[in-house]
Amino acid sequence: MALSTDFGPATALSCRECGTRYDLGPNFACIECFGPLEVAYEFGSVSRADIESGPTNIWRYRSLLPVPADVAAKPNLQPGWTKLIKADNLAGELGLRALHVKDDSGNPTHSFKDRVVAIAVEAARNFGFHTLSCSSTGNLAGAVGAAAARAGLESCVFVPANLEAAKITMASVYGGRLVGIDGTYDEVNRFCSELIGDTLGEKWGFVNVNLRPYYAEGSKTLAYEIAEQLGWRLPDQIVIPVASGSQLTKVDKGFQELIKLGLVEPKEYRIFAAQAAGCAPVSTAFKAGHEVIQPVRPDTIAKSLAIGNPADGPYVLDIARRTGGAVEDVTDPEIVDAIRLLARTEGVFAETAGGVVVGVLRKLVENGVIDPDGETVVLNTGDGLKTLDAVAAQARPAAVIRPSLDAFRTAFAN
Ligand SMILES: Cc1ncc(COP(=O)(O)O)c(C=O)c1O
Ligand SMILES: [Zn+2]
Repeated sequence: MALSTDFGPATALSCRECGTRYDLGPNFACIECFGPLEVAYEFGSVSRADIESGPTNIWRYRSLLPVPADVAAKPNLQPGWTKLIKADNLAGELGLRALHVKDDSGNPTHSFKDRVVAIAVEAARNFGFHTLSCSSTGNLAGAVGAAAARAGLESCVFVPANLEAAKITMASVYGGRLVGIDGTYDEVNRFCSELIGDTLGEKWGFVNVNLRPYYAEGSKTLAYEIAEQLGWRLPDQIVIPVASGSQLTKVDKGFQELIKLGLVEPKEYRIFAAQAAGCAPVSTAFKAGHEVIQPVRPDTIAKSLAIGNPADGPYVLDIARRTGGAVEDVTDPEIVDAIRLLARTEGVFAETAGGVVVGVLRKLVENGVIDPDGETVVLNTGDGLKTLDAVAAQARPAAVIRPSLDAFRTAFAN
């Protein structure tokens, strides 16, 4: 297969553990130590003005991503540049001075996954893959289906068969193949690794397996956007949901790059990780002071975060500890309460992952872990319309009446 060399400023893949470097290719694990590979760059000079004159989507940061300079002109979903909402009502309710919600439900398929998939599509194009694939807890499958359709690629995505109805529909409506697996996400993921080992990896781009180094870089754009939308400043504290942990590690990488490139003032920030109590392997390890993460079998309504053996979990622990943050978890009833709290205070309807983040924020405030005077950002990574069942029992009509004044007065007599 002819490999393209047009990855913009990216120069190599580098092992996160031992630093061994590899040519840019569809590889994800170090041959020396089995550590994960990540994209290494030689950035040219990048100015705020260059970025600000770019399109209002992730491609304004193309000079910081492993993509060719003309990426924006190719058929793609143009994700990103989602709203950073100043959440004064929620801040008031929780007793925080300054709070923002980065609302990634505003992406084309209503989750942050459009960011990562957009980068993976470019890698797939470069490597000549005709089929885009993934193992997914739901949102990624929809994002891959849609991005492949727009890019003119085939798609075949694998999910646990028991996902929410909306996620199953979204993952299949774009015309690609959706395969439901009778098992957990971790079993789906293992099966995909077997498919790759069985030579499918020579023809298919699994965005979160053999294209993972490229895919993961897409989450850096969350960090860039938050900083730019705050007026080229980093927040003091940020709360990020964790499934595999990839997103959290790349938000940190994005902040570090902005500091190194002189695009923001250097500052210390604290990163907090949020999990559901029914799938909290990273939180459990953090609280126990362990380095090693014990895999769990997930049981939570936050299905998008239900990864029992998170690939980037150890790095999440490192980052939370290094930055003075924490990893916390909330129960399913707390997730539902938090979804309703965010909806009631800010008019933002989050999926269960957003409920996990807001629930963890509340818990961290109550426990005195978050500084109420710091500027805090929380990520809402998905849309409540995809997880309606989570709140269906609580969010119901106040009454169902005949269309008459009498009936209204009777129903609402007081
Ligand atoms: C809505 C939502 N938020 C957050 C995540 C966590 O992503 P990561 O696996 O990068 O930790 C996912 C992963 O599927 C997700 O669907
Ligand atoms: Zn290595």
